[in-house]
Amino acid sequence: MSSIYVTGGKPLFGALRVQGAKNSALPILSAAVLAEGVSVIRNCPKLTDTEAAVRILREVGCRVWQDEDALYVDSSGPIRPEIPSRLMREMRSSVIFLGPLLARCGEARMSAPGGCEIGARPIDLHLSALRSLGAEIDERGGNLDCRAARLRSCRIDLPFPSVGATENALLAACLGDGETVITNAAREPELRDLEAFLNSAGASVSGAGSAVIRVQGKADLHGAVHRIMPDRIAAATWLAACAAAGGDVRLYDTEWRDYRPVLRSLREMGCELHTGENLVRIRSLGRLKAASPIVTRPYPGFPTDAQPPLMAAALTAEGTTAFQETIFESRFRHIPELRRMGADIRTEGRTAVVWGVPKLYGAEMCAPDLRGGAALIIAALGAEGESRICGVHHLDRGYAAIEKSLAELGAETVRKEDGDG
Ligand code: UD1
Repeated sequence: MSSIYVTGGKPLFGALRVQGAKNSALPILSAAVLAEGVSVIRNCPKLTDTEAAVRILREVGCRVWQDEDALYVDSSGPIRPEIPSRLMREMRSSVIFLGPLLARCGEARMSAPGGCEIGARPIDLHLSALRSLGAEIDERGGNLDCRAARLRSCRIDLPFPSVGATENALLAACLGDGETVITNAAREPELRDLEAFLNSAGASVSGAGSAVIRVQGKADLHGAVHRIMPDRIAAATWLAACAAAGGDVRLYDTEWRDYRPVLRSLREMGCELHTGENLVRIRSLGRLKAASPIVTRPYPGFPTDAQPPLMAAALTAEGTTAFQETIFESRFRHIPELRRMGADIRTEGRTAVVWGVPKLYGAEMCAPDLRGGAALIIAALGAEGESRICGVHHLDRGYAAIEKSLAELGAETVRKEDGDG
């Protein structure tokens, strides 16, 4: 087990390249199962979640290898449509393999993913979308047993624009008969990236990124070459870090249009932001001001994943900032940890109000989940003295060595194995 130690009070300066998007890499790795042949996936972030996806790919029969440049997935051999529960437990979003395995093999078996740190996370919308496509799904004893000799075209009206359910439906429909239309689809930018990969693999998908996605089913798909889009949540994390610590940071390889609501809140807080082609520059000088209420919503609203990092930046802003979390029910677990640093946060149900304090003090804290862990690191960067953050495995799911990225910007952040001096 390791911890990250942060010595706060040092402004951040310099430039940082933003990693490829985790939330795009995972569905695209699952899509490689559908694309019979070799897929070349560039800019795939090195994360424990992508490693877990690679273990699943190998388990089902794909050959996977990598070099400096790319990850290669060869799915031309026979595919075993079964994911053992030990692999399902490693990563909740493994359920994204359900649609591709079902479409490719006509059957799929896996254990149902349970809840996780941020909420119950049901998959009823995934399953009803696949049933509309003709799948028979048996859910017994926590296992999913799915069958569909042929997937048929249909209209899927999602009651909520779930990202995962939209992705599973879209992936399965690629090998269906005729045209499938998904309405009230999630509009997150990662859906556009998935569409781009699928179309390069020979699929016929249109409308991803809007609320109506149309898929013309094909008999088969082939391997494709694709570069994963930049990670908008990692970008929001680095911007919130600079806002909290002060400084002047340039992010490159980033698409700022994908996270406009985050930029709007940071501007309200008094940060100077300049955007260019694949570039964002943030300057944070002096004490921040409170932002107007931040309410998480499906895209194009404020992203739920950026709520904890922005809350961390608001802790020392002058005035009060309200946060309302409408997507996940347990997404405030970083708050008790932040209070250890002297943060003044009051919660009621899904609303948290931050009363800005002049100063935070280093503390020992434990990351409760991925983005909550990022919030602790960000708050520690702006605090006086040293902090120790445990539960680093949560951070490694979504950031490729977060302490190294921040150290590149001049932060004093080091990882130590527990027990090291
Ligand atoms: C969510 C985020 C997404 C983010 C991702 C990674 C939203 C809308 N989605 O996607 O932007 O990139 O986390 O952290 O912000 N739900 C059901 N039944 C289902 C599926 C979902 O009730 O079958 C509910 C969930 O409990 C949750 C909401 O729908 O309250 C959003 O879920 P969903 O979009 O599916 O979550 P992710 O795909 O994980």
